[in-house]
Amino acid sequence: MNKITAAITGVHGYLPEHIMTNQELETMIDTTDEWITTRTGIKERRILKGEGKGVSVIGIEAVKGLCEKRGISPEEIDMIICCTVTADHIFPATANIIADKVGATNAFGFDLNAACSGFLYGLATGSKFVESGSHKKVVVVGADKMSAIVDYEDRATCIIFGDGGGAVLLEPNEEGMGVQDSILKSDGSGAQFLAQKAGGSAYPPTHETVDAREHFARQDGKTVFKFAVTNMADVSAEIMEKNNLSSGDVTWLVPHQANKRIIDATARRMGVEDDKVMLNIEKYGNTTSGTIPLCLWEYENQLKKGDNLVLAAFGGGFTWGAIYLKWAYNSK
Ligand code: UT7
Repeated sequence: MNKITAAITGVHGYLPEHIMTNQELETMIDTTDEWITTRTGIKERRILKGEGKGVSVIGIEAVKGLCEKRGISPEEIDMIICCTVTADHIFPATANIIADKVGATNAFGFDLNAACSGFLYGLATGSKFVESGSHKKVVVVGADKMSAIVDYEDRATCIIFGDGGGAVLLEPNEEGMGVQDSILKSDGSGAQFLAQKAGGSAYPPTHETVDAREHFARQDGKTVFKFAVTNMADVSAEIMEKNNLSSGDVTWLVPHQANKRIIDATARRMGVEDDKVMLNIEKYGNTTSGTIPLCLWEYENQLKKGDNLVLAAFGGGFTWGAIYLKWAYNSK
């Protein structure tokens, strides 16, 4: 029997309806469309509105759409990993809420928090269950409702984030398609540069933490940018070298969408042309764990069986990594 690899056999995304443009931000903080566009590449982002609506709303819609598209019953799903930093609650896991609401009654699930690298960590983790033969249908959700933890008085942070996400189905493949290799890294010494300080066990919610606005995500943008540019490019080059991939072998770079300048630096380092880089930052901004599945969903119709994809991300933690995978199907 051939070796079993874990292949993505379907992808679906969900984007909330409300569009927050740079012009709308101009009315809220001291900024301009021109500044945001030239510094980040972002023109607008989506916002999930409605009381009591958490990130599970995004995950539920993505998983429902995925099952319909693939023609499978949610009961066939063995496992759901929900990658997010904006879980509905500290506990229970959002993966369990998604499983319940979509009717994935035979799945076990858990949340995975690796900030902007969450989807890569989740994809690598889910793949191991499929490769081992223990699980046949694994769903990896990457989604965030960043508007829940963004301070719309903090112009250095609020301009880049948005809400949205997607889900992929992983299944066993005997033709050598799917995940080929992953390099995942983390460095906790960078923790203070991008974090939500309060709300966990170190600083539980108090009137003081709320007054000090410590339940919002804060970043030292310049420092994060510096580490992101170097590490995302380095790890992408490393995975190419490790797998003997030349720039010509890479059909698509699928980068985390945090800042267009970080994406450009990664593509340059890999020697990959602009038209091979998946890009939707202009429309959705940085949806944290959601960016990579949203890219795959949007570009799905252009993907062909056997295409070589390099997925790359950098984010809070610090966390970063790259995954090399072979696309397993023709969409059209
Ligand atoms: O998702 C993974 C994690 N996050 C990232 O990867 C984000 C990485 N960082 C970035 O993308 C960028 O650092 C930002 C987009 C957040 C900021 O861009 P920057 O080019 O690094 O700007 P800066 O923080 O160095 O600020 C430059 C100037 C400052 O003014 P002075 O001191 O030069 O007078 C800021 O006060 O721009 C000012 N500024 C703004 N001006 C207008 C900062 N934010 C804004 C704003 N509008 N929204």
